[in-house]
Amino acid sequence: MKNLLIIDDEKTICYSLKFVFEDEFNVYTATNMYEVNEHIENKEFHIILLDLKFGDISGLDLLDSLNLKQKRSQIIMMTAYGNIESSVKAIKKGAYDYIIKPLDIPKLKNLINRSLEMNKVKEFIKEEKYNILGISKKMKEVFDVIDKIKDLDIGILIEGSSGTGKELVAKAIHEYGRRKSKKMEIVNCGAIPENLIESELFGHKKGAFTGANRDKTGRFQLANGSTLFLDEIGDMDLNLQVKLLRAIQQKEVYSLGGEECEKIDVRIISATNKDLKREVEKGQFREDLYFRLNVVNIKLPDLKDRKEDIPILVNNFVKEASISMNKEIEGIDEESYEILMNYQYPGNIRELKNIIRRAVALTDNHVIKREDLPSELCIKDKRSMNKGIVPIKIGTNLSDVEKKIILETLKITGENRRKAAEILGISERTIRYKLKEYKNISGQ
Ligand SMILES: Nc1ncnc2c1ncn2[C@@H]1O[C@H](COP(=O)(O)OP(=O)(O)OP(=O)(O)O)[C@@H](O)[C@H]1O
Ligand SMILES: [Mg+2]
Repeated sequence: MKNLLIIDDEKTICYSLKFVFEDEFNVYTATNMYEVNEHIENKEFHIILLDLKFGDISGLDLLDSLNLKQKRSQIIMMTAYGNIESSVKAIKKGAYDYIIKPLDIPKLKNLINRSLEMNKVKEFIKEEKYNILGISKKMKEVFDVIDKIKDLDIGILIEGSSGTGKELVAKAIHEYGRRKSKKMEIVNCGAIPENLIESELFGHKKGAFTGANRDKTGRFQLANGSTLFLDEIGDMDLNLQVKLLRAIQQKEVYSLGGEECEKIDVRIISATNKDLKREVEKGQFREDLYFRLNVVNIKLPDLKDRKEDIPILVNNFVKEASISMNKEIEGIDEESYEILMNYQYPGNIRELKNIIRRAVALTDNHVIKREDLPSELCIKDKRSMNKGIVPIKIGTNLSDVEKKIILETLKITGENRRKAAEILGISERTIRYKLKEYKNISGQ
């Protein structure tokens, strides 16, 4: 559980907030400076709720020392109405946001959830590597593999659906590896017509075929001493696969119409959105070549399977797009955030990037709102909320009906209790209580 610190000189506020958050956080409270110091010296907090007027002390002054001692925490100011100006100052000093007293608890919970997502962004920025964004376990595994293989001269096969970042990863491996001083050559095996690709790869001599008016250097030769990235390798014709295999095995190439072979030293990275192993089984791809190319395999996960990466991707894409379009967009609002988190992204990161670029281009606001997102996304979002139907037999006990509805709603929200509570129109606390009850019954 994450650590939450509540700093407020009113004991009743500390108690009631502790009661609200104790199931989700390790809650600590401080009603005087002695307690504040005691906590901040000994613990690291993810979230700090700070009263803007803490007894005689200004929350703004306290904010400075918290910023210094609790670098990784997100601070949310609590303020009485009429103190907005100071709250804005607090944000300028690094607080995440402020909330007005009397506290609106659902709003505060939303703020806390958002600030935790931002916290991940903070952590990531510190650890940024390879220009590839991702904090999910799956992406960390990818970074680990890149760390290990970037300097090695072995065949690397990158697999993943369209838009998952295969080219980005290939570039990272080259640019951070020991062959970086020479440019990586890229050949898209799917885009070049079959009759031209051989000469593209190995080059040709003048007069080798009709239309070969002069010598052409192949990409293999150009990539000598560097990396050759064979994109869409799954689309390569079987005849050419034989020639590619020979070039890799012998470490030499013949250009079309040429008589002499040339020695080459090339590291090969290939990528495909096909399941290459299945292509081998179907007889569409040579097994011996497959093993040569696939000494190390990197499988990039679909975005829908690593939704925890969405906030940082969105955040960065908003920033990038705002800068390039010369607009001042601060971020996205809660509703669009929910919509983006619920969408399935068949086009993966490329699709998310395009959605954000479009939204930044079209919006008239300082934050991206629901109306700036493609309408189909919003419709799909609604549908995905409503898609579950729970069949219930007449005569079912009402408490069983309730249990079914609660559990099914949790399923469609990806076990998000807050969202489920919102949909069902009950409190999150009730859901937690019910779940405990179900667990106890089934445990008996
Ligand atoms: N982890 C990531 N962080 C930041 N940007 C990313 C990430 N993954 C992908 N992108 C961006 O998404 C877009 C698509 O990535 P890329 O071209 O590498 O995908 P791909 O897997 O090669 O797609 P395709 O199969 O369609 O060729 C690019 O603009 C890329 O910069
Ligand atoms: Mg690609």
